[in-house]
Parts: sequence; C-alpha cells; structure tokens
Amino acid sequence: MSRNILVTSALPYANGHIHIGHLVEYLQTDIWVRFQKLRGNRALYICADDTHGTAIMIRARAEGRSEEELIAEMSQAHQRDFAGFHIAFDHYGSTHSDHNRAVCHEIWAALRRDGMVAEQEIDQLYDTQAQTFLADRFVRGTCPKCGSTNQPGDNCGHCGATYTPSALIDPLSTLSGTRPEVRSATHLFVRIEQLHDFLDHWTQSGTLPSESANYLKNFFLNSPLRDWDISRPAPYFGFEIPDSPGNYWYVWFDAPIGYIGSTSEWCAIHGEKLDDWWRSESTEIHHFIGKDIQYFHTLFWPAMLKTAGFSLPRFVHIHGFLTVEGEKMSKSRGTFVRASKYLEHLDPEYLRYYYATKLSSRVEDIDLNLGEFVARVNSDLVGKVVNLASRTARFIADTGLSDTYPDDGGLFVRFAARNEEIAEDYEKGDYGKAMRAIMELADLANPYVEESAPWELRKDPARVQELRDVCTVALNLFRTLVIYLSPVLPTLAEKASTLFDDPITHWDQAQTPLLGKVIGKFTHMMQRVDPKNIEKMLDESKEETASVSAPSNTSTTQTWSDSGDALAATPIAPEITIDDFAKLDLRVVRIIDAAEVPEARKLVRLILSLGGDETRQVFAGIKAAYDPATLIGRLVVMVANLAPRKMKFGESQGMIVAAGPGGEDIFLLSPDQGAQPGQRVG
Ligand code: MSP
Ligand code: ZN
Repeated sequence: MSRNILVTSALPYANGHIHIGHLVEYLQTDIWVRFQKLRGNRALYICADDTHGTAIMIRARAEGRSEEELIAEMSQAHQRDFAGFHIAFDHYGSTHSDHNRAVCHEIWAALRRDGMVAEQEIDQLYDTQAQTFLADRFVRGTCPKCGSTNQPGDNCGHCGATYTPSALIDPLSTLSGTRPEVRSATHLFVRIEQLHDFLDHWTQSGTLPSESANYLKNFFLNSPLRDWDISRPAPYFGFEIPDSPGNYWYVWFDAPIGYIGSTSEWCAIHGEKLDDWWRSESTEIHHFIGKDIQYFHTLFWPAMLKTAGFSLPRFVHIHGFLTVEGEKMSKSRGTFVRASKYLEHLDPEYLRYYYATKLSSRVEDIDLNLGEFVARVNSDLVGKVVNLASRTARFIADTGLSDTYPDDGGLFVRFAARNEEIAEDYEKGDYGKAMRAIMELADLANPYVEESAPWELRKDPARVQELRDVCTVALNLFRTLVIYLSPVLPTLAEKASTLFDDPITHWDQAQTPLLGKVIGKFTHMMQRVDPKNIEKMLDESKEETASVSAPSNTSTTQTWSDSGDALAATPIAPEITIDDFAKLDLRVVRIIDAAEVPEARKLVRLILSLGGDETRQVFAGIKAAYDPATLIGRLVVMVANLAPRKMKFGESQGMIVAAGPGGEDIFLLSPDQGAQPGQRVG
C-alpha cells in the first residue's frame, strides 16, 4: 500500500547563508524523500525561510532597506544553493506569508479558547538609541554571580551561571554600545503544563529517537513544564498578535507553524485540501531537525498541534552537528564553508555520498574528514561503481545487451536479494549502513569483471557473444547499484538512465535485468575528487579572524596577578605513578537533571548522562554554591569508577569533580566546547 508522507526540514533563518553544516540536514531529508518517492509512496517535501525576529530587523535597518526586500533576496540565495545540491523541495515558502499568518491566527484562537494563554509583566532591557528591546544575545555585561566582564545576556561563559539580561551588572547593548535601561512590558505565555500528561506520553511513544525520548523523561518527572514566552513588544519584525495590539509573536511561535503555512500555499497552487495533509489519519508527518532545536519540536510544537486539532508528527528525525576535521566549523580555519562556495569547486554528489556514508539513525555529531572524503568518493563511487560501466559499456556499443541473461554465478540474484534490507536502512535513516551494503555488492561485481577481462575478449572476433554476455552482466550489476544509490546520487542516476535509455523511476527496477536492447553512448559519469579543489575552497573560505568581531574576555594586553593563597592552603599531594592515575576513570558527563534533596542541607541530586541511555545518580554537596536549575544541560567531569555508596535517599554512583574550598566557593569543572558525554578525561 502506498503511503502519504509529508516531510519537512527545519526552516533556515533568513539572516544567514546556507553552509555545509546545514546541508547535513537538507541532504539527509532530500535523500529520504527521494527514497520514498522511488518506493512508490506519495511524498511531499515542504520547507520555507524563517524570516522573523530582531536579527533581521536590525540587519535591514543597518542596510537601509525593508525587511521584505532583505528576506526576498535571502530566499533567492537559499533556493539557489539548495537547487545546486539537487535538494528538491515540492514547495519552498516563507514564514512571512499570508498563508502562514492565517494558520497562526487559527492556532492562536485555539490556545485562547483552551485557556492556555497567560499574561505576565517582564523586565527587559531596552536600547533607547536603537529603540528596541534587546534579545539576550544583543547584551553583554558583568556576570552577577562571578563578576566576569563582557559576558552574554543569558549565561556566563566563565562560571556557567544562567540569568536574565536585566540581572547583568553594567549591561551594554551590542547594537549601539550604549547602556540599555530596564523597561517592563507585558508578555504573553503559553502554558504547556496543561498538556503535561499528553506530552509526557507522546514523547515516549516511539515518535522520537530513543536518546531524545530518554533525555526528555527527566523533564516530566520532577517539575511542571515552564510557561513559554511567545510575545515580543514592538518594534519587532513579525506578525502582530490580533488581540494584543503592539505585541508580536516571537519568531519561534510562527516558525514551526510555517510548516503548515507553506503546505497551505502549496495546496492553494495545486488545488489540494490542507486537511488531507495536516488533519488526516492517512498522512504521516515527518520532521527532520538538528538536536539544537529539539525543545521547540518535541514540547511546544506538539502542544500547539494538539490544541488546534492538527496531526502530530509520526516521527521527528533528529541529527547531530557537523564538525570538520574533528572541530567546530571555523571561519579562521576556512572550514565554515558556504554551500555556494563548495559548489564553485566541487561536485554536489560527492558531499551527498559522503554524508550518506556517515549518517545513522542515532543523534550523533558527524565529522567531515577531508582525507576520508576524497578517499570515499574516489575509491567507492569512481573506483567501484562508475568503473563497472566505464570498463564495459563501449564494448557493446554495436551489439547491445544480450537477449537472455547470461550465467553470472548467481551475482544478479544476490544483488536483487538485498533490496529489502537496503530499503529498511534508508527508511530508518541508517544511510551509512545502506552505503556499506551497496559497496559490499560492488566488491563482488568488480572481481567478476577483472576475471572475465572483457578487454581481452574483445581482441578475438570469435568471442563476440562472450564479450556481449560479460558486458551485459557488468552493466546490469552497475544498474542495480545505481538504483540503490539513486536517492543519494540523482545525477548519476540520470546519466545511467540515459545510457540505458530507460529512466530509473522505481526501486523494484533493481529486480529485473535489462536485456536485448541497444545502449547509448557512454559519457563520463563522475570525475575523481581533486584535492587541489578542496584546498582552494578552504582558502577562499578563510576569513581574517580580526574581522570577526566576536567579543572575548581574554584580551592579549591583560596581565594576570593570581594569588598564591589557594596553593598554600592545600599543598600538592605525594607523587603518584602514571599507573596510579590510570586507575581513575574520569568522564565527561551531561547533567540532565538536578534537584535539591529536601532532607539534606548541602546536597543536590544529579542525574548524569554518559551519552546514549547510560545515566548515573550522584549526590553532590554543592547546594550552597549552585542553584540546581542552572546546572541542567551543563557538561561536567565525573569520577566514573568510584565504588557506589548507599545514602539515606538513594545510591550515589560516583562523584563530580570541582575546585574550591567548599561552601559557596565550589567551582565545577567544565570541558571546552566540543567535548561529548562519555569521553574519557586523561
Ligand atoms: N530557523 C530555525 C529553525 C526553525 S524550524 C521551525 C533554525 N534555523 S538554522 O538556519 O539555524 O538551522 C536550520 C537547521 O540546520 C537546524 O535543524 C539546525 O540544527 C541545522 N544546522 C545548522 N547548523 C548545523 C550544523 N553545523 N550541523 C548540522 N546541522 C546544523 O534553527
Ligand atoms: Zn559568571
């Protein structure tokens, strides 16, 4: 039975260009959609630009033009980049559209009707010169907790404290450099706590990757879900809230609604009914998103859908972040590569294939290793796949394919037999596994050609039928591989379709060999990656670090005058050997829950994640130094192999490491950016 599937990728912000990090998501989604279509399902791939918010407003002002003009230009640029990578949306809309506004109104009315909207006065910083309220990231100042200067408006990069921007000491607006004032304004909140039980159940019902579902469990256990602030006072670029003049929906309110708004626009163009896609039992909705935007998609968004009677997503596919050569993309190293820059130097199919080999159904970061990138493409695609055709197609330009399928020792049957397994891997998002299976098959086909040596057969006119048979086998094996690869490599699939004069349109074509027909002229199908082009791409992506004006609190002119008191108070312990040290298993962990232990004066109960499903409970004597709520989400270091200890309120399964004498002066250790839970420290 064919399925109806509506698929979305996250809506990219209109204030930046598409880069190779984004492409992890859009390529992954496009592959999935192409796969579904190839299987005969009806799939609709919907996306749009996410256009609202302060950042766009500020940039438009700085460039002296309207927001509309700016977002129209960015939409063009985004769509050009996506098309360059063969990402084939069925519709690409904008959150700044009448269709989206209409859906926002509809969902808002439902939230009001169900009593889910509350009002509250909020203190916010206001820049009197730029005449705007300041989002957290436009404020810097001194941390109210540790006194570090030049810290962002929401949390301290030095001590990790979280706070509201109005709590900053000596705040400065990064827009005008002036001191903002605190102004109070009424904000509107959505009380998602009203759907606590529903969301608890929904998030645990197989709709999310298990890592994400487990992570969310802790949110529901101990506390009510926090109200969500969804309004911003004027001036703001967005939609004005109909029953609250002067207030606008916060960009994250209307952004996911853009999925429906964009579908609605598509429906208007194609004479379809929106409810067939968004309110129908027979349509599956699949979102693809990055792990940074899970909350919006797994708590707020389902709450809105549920309230307004839309379908809930069947599955939210969540992926990790891209690193390049093991590190965060960096402008100074040239690894922050724009999609358009990549396309100036390299074939999009390379990246489509490389990402496919790295992707799995787990929420894991993926690394672009450039050496591996060259090797994978050159050895797999050019060396193993395209080679099958380039070494045989010319030899049967005159005779065409044999009329009956020759004896190939069972190769074709083996190729055809793996189709369901490979299809399941695609379905689950385990593209890496699918690619490995396909390359295993390619590894069977190449020795066949090698041993049959068509280039020898062709020298002997008496063996022309034998030559024809060998080439028929090789080309049919090639064609099967290309069908399996076609969601990933649409251009290669097109070239193969031309060669065989037989378009690849259905997965099941891999079950039947092509016979008795003349084939087209062999044209070059894919070039090897030239590492020189990668060098050029990186070079041209490099930006002077000086021009990136990220404020930093470690200026080079600073002098240090740390006191010797701490060391004097606790002298260094007796010497140990490296083996002594090796006994200690220190791990990076994420604090996924933190709560006071009412019966204990000093203790905080921590749930630490080692990644995946591995968690530990630890009681730490840090209550005087930390508010538990500010700890959730932080990475810290734990002693993971400490013998567990029974306490009155439960077992303590390890300890976290911290500096300082104790009491209020305890300082947790955090790894630098990029560290992952579960990594060993040593
Ligand atoms: N506008 C929001 C999404 C709104 S959805 C209703 C947004 N935009 S974004 O442009 O910042 O990111 C778009 C998508 O790209 C997100 O899913 C994000 O996770 C993903 N990625 C952005 N940078 C990425 C990497 N470096 N690596 C992998 N994915 C990344 O978020
Ligand atoms: Zn601080």
